[in-house]
Amino acid sequence: MSRLVRLAQWQALKAHRRTWRGRHLRDVFAQELRRFERFSAALDDLLLDYSKNLISAETLALLRDLGRVTGVEERVAAMFRGEPINNTEQRAVLHVALRNDPSVPIYVQGRDVMPEVAQVLARMERFANAVRSGRWKGHTGAAITDVVNLGIGGSDLGPAMACRALAPYGHKRLRMHFVSNVDPQHLGDTLAPLKAESTLFIVASKTFTTLETLANAQAARRWLLKKLKDKSAIARHFVAVSTNRAEVKKFGIDPEHMFGFWDWVGGRYSLWSAIGLPIALYIGMDGFRELLAGGRDMDGHFRADPLASLPGTLALLAIWYQHFWGASAHGVMPYDQHLARFPAYLQQLCMESNGKGVTRDGRAVRWDTGEIVWGEPGTNGQHAFFQLLHQGTRFIPLDFLVATRTHSDLDGQHQMLVANCLAQSEALMRGKTRAEATAELAAAGLPAREIRRLAPHKAFPGNRPSNTLLYGQLTPRTLGRLIALYEHKVLVQSAVWDINAFDQWGVELGKQLAGTLIRELGSARPGAHDSSTVGLMRQYLKLRTPH
Ligand code: F6P
Repeated sequence: MSRLVRLAQWQALKAHRRTWRGRHLRDVFAQELRRFERFSAALDDLLLDYSKNLISAETLALLRDLGRVTGVEERVAAMFRGEPINNTEQRAVLHVALRNDPSVPIYVQGRDVMPEVAQVLARMERFANAVRSGRWKGHTGAAITDVVNLGIGGSDLGPAMACRALAPYGHKRLRMHFVSNVDPQHLGDTLAPLKAESTLFIVASKTFTTLETLANAQAARRWLLKKLKDKSAIARHFVAVSTNRAEVKKFGIDPEHMFGFWDWVGGRYSLWSAIGLPIALYIGMDGFRELLAGGRDMDGHFRADPLASLPGTLALLAIWYQHFWGASAHGVMPYDQHLARFPAYLQQLCMESNGKGVTRDGRAVRWDTGEIVWGEPGTNGQHAFFQLLHQGTRFIPLDFLVATRTHSDLDGQHQMLVANCLAQSEALMRGKTRAEATAELAAAGLPAREIRRLAPHKAFPGNRPSNTLLYGQLTPRTLGRLIALYEHKVLVQSAVWDINAFDQWGVELGKQLAGTLIRELGSARPGAHDSSTVGLMRQYLKLRTPH
């Protein structure tokens, strides 16, 4: 499929795009009174309104044709069958097995993986129950009050995002902390107020070779030993989550206290595995199973008709804008403070998965891949960067996420939030014409000259598309559905682009160079680099100690 842009279906979309010239969504809505009913779909109480998009039924049909001819359905089926669709690493991609109905087998190389999945879940459950009930004691007999997850990327972002999102379900005694950065200030600031005797560390690393995580884990161990002065304390205060038993043992964590997972779980898809242990500790295993059930709901929905599903629709719309409208980024705006870390989580999911420059068979792609994803919770974004979205020159489609019910007691205020969310998507879609701006200024009694001067600044182009995801309440199940929705969106996009969404070789070069630079800075002897790198190293070495 390396000739994507030459496909008849691609060319048909190009021609179809021309029919949109000069059309404005404001007029489209005025003409199509049932547009919302036509272009919205739901999975239970999760509603996707995609009517404020620059599409017609024909656009959707053409996009689905493109999806069909690029093999989206086959790729989806192959993933669920456990085939090694991560073809550069020859691995199956089976995060869906982690949330699968345990009685339905899924095979990897002829072996049903479901019994092992159930086994790990059962161990997580026993451990979570023990910590939550206070039966699991620290070295001095104190119950655990603080859990510190040491991990980075997929071993951090998912659990950190989910614990924040599900705070209303959190155990009252447990405070959850996530330390990812190798910057010692991250760990130092986190540990400063904690008591070693009631702190539990989870060292979370798929490979157990990640520099940042291991450095933080070593530092955390030193901190604990300094406070508790007894090596045997490690066993009560450190557990590991990894696929690498040998390295865990080498680090000094008893494999008895290790929760395993498998190479067919990608890092950024791993929160459903034992990497989700912080979530299970915090909201309990029933809640964690609800999260898994939410993922499973979305899997069933997606698998039944990938191209017409909610994830398929989001993916195809993104393709439409990226390639045929010149979209430069995609904003995700949760009007839900508990989803504050959701955009950061999506950045890894979308950009590490689909930021690829060659096709699955290694040929350079001749179309843009990946999406630049960013976002902030509403209404904060409105007072920061929404100006650019409304009146700037760039074309940036958005997803709005909003709940119909809040967990907060200040319920009246939630309605203001919802109103703001709906107002933004309406404003982006409708805009304000020069005539409307002129009439407003005239109504305010401004003189004609002033009106002429100000009207261009007060007009909004509109015609800027967005999706709105409206859900009941941010429960574990809803969160599971939302995460799986975006996971599958990424898969559909990758299939259309003919790239492998499940490897991440692009992070390796920086790691290699960092290894060299760490050694050189350690010996204060810059090696052979470009003049910029050497100059910066020399300056650092000169100024690192305060005068
Ligand atoms: O460097 C990128 C990456 O490999 C991510 O894909 C992964 O989520 C993260 O590092 C952490 O890896 P690990 O869980 O093996 O420590």
